[in-house]
Amino acid sequence: MSASSTTPPGSSGVGRPRPTVAAMPRYRPGRDASQADVDADVGEAVKLASNENPWPPPEPVRRAVAAAAEGANRYPDHLSTELRADLARHLGVDPASVAVGAGSTGLIQQLVAAYVDPGDGIVYPWRSFEAYPVFAALAGAAVTTVGLVDHTVDVDAVAAAVTPSTRLVFIANPNNPTGTAVDTAALTRLCAAVTERVGHDTLVVVDEAYREFCDPALGDPVTDLVPHFPQVVVLRTFSKAHGLAGLRVGYAVAHPEVIATLDATLAPFLVSAPAQAGARAALECLDEIGAAVSRLVAERERMRTALVEAGFTVPPSQANFVWLPLGERTGEVYTHLERRGLVTRPFADEGVRITVADPATGDRVIEALGSWIRTAGGGAAP
Ligand SMILES: Cc1ncc(COP(=O)(O)O)c(C=O)c1O
Repeated sequence: MSASSTTPPGSSGVGRPRPTVAAMPRYRPGRDASQADVDADVGEAVKLASNENPWPPPEPVRRAVAAAAEGANRYPDHLSTELRADLARHLGVDPASVAVGAGSTGLIQQLVAAYVDPGDGIVYPWRSFEAYPVFAALAGAAVTTVGLVDHTVDVDAVAAAVTPSTRLVFIANPNNPTGTAVDTAALTRLCAAVTERVGHDTLVVVDEAYREFCDPALGDPVTDLVPHFPQVVVLRTFSKAHGLAGLRVGYAVAHPEVIATLDATLAPFLVSAPAQAGARAALECLDEIGAAVSRLVAERERMRTALVEAGFTVPPSQANFVWLPLGERTGEVYTHLERRGLVTRPFADEGVRITVADPATGDRVIEALGSWIRTAGGGAAP
């Protein structure tokens, strides 16, 4: 049967997806290194597009994952009970304040499913994490975006955008893709202003996917915000610092009522047993994980210093990536890097995000961007 005039855009006529689904933005994963258009003699292609950890997880974590895979004929523990208990101990909170999900992305999806009806408001700064518009559109939410100032979240403008119909505020901190972060004093101001405007009816979600790469002086929302603002939800993940992006496991820390609501929307057995076991084992390897994080933070600072010296604008990053706001030269720089085997993440006409890896890779990035600014860049700072 051919597509009829009533077929929604984007559909070939098989089934009837909701118009919202046809119209919503698609999440774009970073390109794999194997897809790179690499010139001869430039070395291996490397993926610097998804802010992954360049190193495999610690050996005890790999062993725990392999052992858990032996029981793959059984469903996992639906609520990840033991992992919750471990996390609660680790964070010094009650287990009833912790939910586990399929990465922080899974928890973002659950939050939207649990709190947002069609027409309800969601507020977030933009540009930010690309999953927010996807899930907001899927829910039929009324989205309000708030511009960044100096590549940084403007908490006062975000607070001013909240209305009684706002159900969720998402703050990626550090922000993706700009890498900048605000401290818990600024977030306290935001939460106080939101409370003043709408009481506790609007959840403020602090998405800390890159927390472990931050300066501790920025504060800790679990201790600085959650006890004081029952509407705060802190999201964290094992994908970045802990090197478990492939296992899909993250967690939320929030008021027990919010956690119970999140659990009500958890798809059955969503977090696999290997993911639960890997995350538990990672919590036993925090020295090794912390050492790798320190190496990445040192490398981030080295790269940023070199790129600023070369003439690039690079906002200070608190994450495991750096952001080059290149405007209309974005495509040109992205292609220049990709030809040299460096697969980064372009945001058309805005900039290029580059994941920090080991120093040898960092040298390749610095050299490639240096050669661009000396030649195509004409020596001009973008
Ligand atoms: C701000 C932010 N939140 C959440 C995520 C998703 O992480 P996870 O792998 O836990 O779903 C990312 C990943 O890129 C991110 O940048």
